Amino acid sequence: MRKNIVAGNWKMNKTLQEGLALATELNSALIGKSLNCDVIIGTPFIHLASVASAIDTKQIGIAAQNCADKESGAYTGEVSAAMIKSTGADYVILGHSERRAYYGETFETLKDKVLLALKNNLNPIFCIGEVLAEREENRQNEVVKAQLEGSVFNLSAEDFGKIILAYEPVWAIGTGKTASPEQAQEIHAYIRSLVAQKFGNQVADNATILYGGSCNAGNAKELFTNPDVDGGLIGGASLKVADFCAIIDAF
Ligand code: PGA
Repeated sequence: MRKNIVAGNWKMNKTLQEGLALATELNSALIGKSLNCDVIIGTPFIHLASVASAIDTKQIGIAAQNCADKESGAYTGEVSAAMIKSTGADYVILGHSERRAYYGETFETLKDKVLLALKNNLNPIFCIGEVLAEREENRQNEVVKAQLEGSVFNLSAEDFGKIILAYEPVWAIGTGKTASPEQAQEIHAYIRSLVAQKFGNQVADNATILYGGSCNAGNAKELFTNPDVDGGLIGGASLKVADFCAIIDAF
């Protein structure tokens, strides 16, 4: 089902103690509140289990920011989807542009990661989006289409329905530049049309498509008001409870 979601991506920030403090402060801020959106926080791996036992996971879902493309075994330093699930997390961010750019994640590795996440009952938050040069050449549509076709359009309609999409123009991530509400709506509608072509109108209508890239308390409402923008994936502004709550309150 299509949902409104505000998801935080902490990236590589916060020690375990700082992360626990942030998560418990957010938990206290949201406790007993009836919200118009689901809330998820994407923490570093080592925080997952502690955060899961410190907060109400019915109110705040927990996401990892990556998972291995292998099931288990001799892959030193990797963390499997099954391990993530065992911490109490229910989501995993996959295909973030930082992982594609700095860690060489390809369409193929992401395809494997998505399948393993789904096999282990984790809902992928699958990120797509173009870099600045591609936007300047007006190639954003072909870029997101290739990213979807390369890693998630192989799925059954049922499995695709478990994925949350996040459109994140790379030129807007951490830069203070945001896609305008019109730019966001235009490409979100395009993404939904691709889902409709592939899986049919009902799956497309049920798909949750988040916007990410310098989303903050000041611009969230304008962005989320668009019919095809179902919430946000929030980096910098998810690291302060007041800022993150102000974005949640945009719904
Ligand atoms: P930002 O990051 O909100 O700091 O731009 C968003 C993201 O990378 O998910």
